[in-house]
Amino acid sequence: MTALAVAAGRAVETTRPDALAADPFAAALVAGARSNLDLPTVWPADPTAAPALQQPLLLASTYIGLRTRFIDDFLQSEPQDLQTVILGAGLDTRVYRLKWPPGSRVLELDHANVLEFKAAVMEGLSAKPACHLITVPTDLAQPWENALLTAGYDRQQPTTWIIEGLLPYLSADAQLATLQEVAALSPSGSRAVIERAVPLPATEEVEAKLREFSAQTGLPMSELLARANPPDPVRLLEAAGWECREHPIPELCARYGRAISLTTPDGLASDGSHDRSRGGFVTAWLPRRA
Ligand SMILES: C[S@@+](CC[C@H](N)C(=O)[O-])C[C@H]1O[C@@H](n2cnc3c(N)ncnc32)[C@H](O)[C@@H]1O
Repeated sequence: MTALAVAAGRAVETTRPDALAADPFAAALVAGARSNLDLPTVWPADPTAAPALQQPLLLASTYIGLRTRFIDDFLQSEPQDLQTVILGAGLDTRVYRLKWPPGSRVLELDHANVLEFKAAVMEGLSAKPACHLITVPTDLAQPWENALLTAGYDRQQPTTWIIEGLLPYLSADAQLATLQEVAALSPSGSRAVIERAVPLPATEEVEAKLREFSAQTGLPMSELLARANPPDPVRLLEAAGWECREHPIPELCARYGRAISLTTPDGLASDGSHDRSRGGFVTAWLPRRA
């Protein structure tokens, strides 16, 4: 369901006159799921007049567009690695819609049912991956290193890791284990983009907000989101020799001229800094040995 909601966000983004990213497959993935959730797939002329149930998801789409573009740009920046691992790939269609250097391969990890659903819809659309795609059905709440190695991950090959929209759904222990596995499996020259999880204190205010969002959208976020204090990817990766850069949401809003808002025109004052439910991003590099 969360993968579907994000795909709906990309479908909406694709229809905006000022779209930051275009995902020509997102709407078909949402339609293919025949979900009884009322997921918007089009940016309306007046989003504030959209049905109340759709407004939280339209607002979320303003963020999903920003995050999609930021990660697309990171992936396509030099030096592009020939091996990419997408943890919690969901209905991400980067292997189909981006240009990949010849010889690239991408390993996508997620639950089997999510990966199988995506493959079936993409086959129905006659869409072909633009690189060598390897799907790795895995429970990322458990150690996944062996599944990745068995699927053909090459631990000598500098690798780009994408961790987008996954960490908030893992317990703090599983987040820590996942980040440790990334560090342990990465040869020098590897890089990563990580969307941070924000701590969700178990206060009545937070619970009430999650209940309200769940009631509005039909997405049971209060059950899905992990509650504990997330580990800090920067501390963990720097201790393993990586160099890290933080990208708070306001920085991305300014870079791409996007406001996370249904009402503020892009490029104007609202910069997303009010939205404390977003943790920002970390990009990281493991320097090549001299
Ligand atoms: C919010 S979606 C994001 C998907 C994708 N990264 C994107 O941005 O479109 C979260 C994804 O994490 C996956 N996920 C959550 N917990 C998982 C687990 N324990 N094992 C494998 N996948 C998991 C879900 O199945 C879902 O596809």
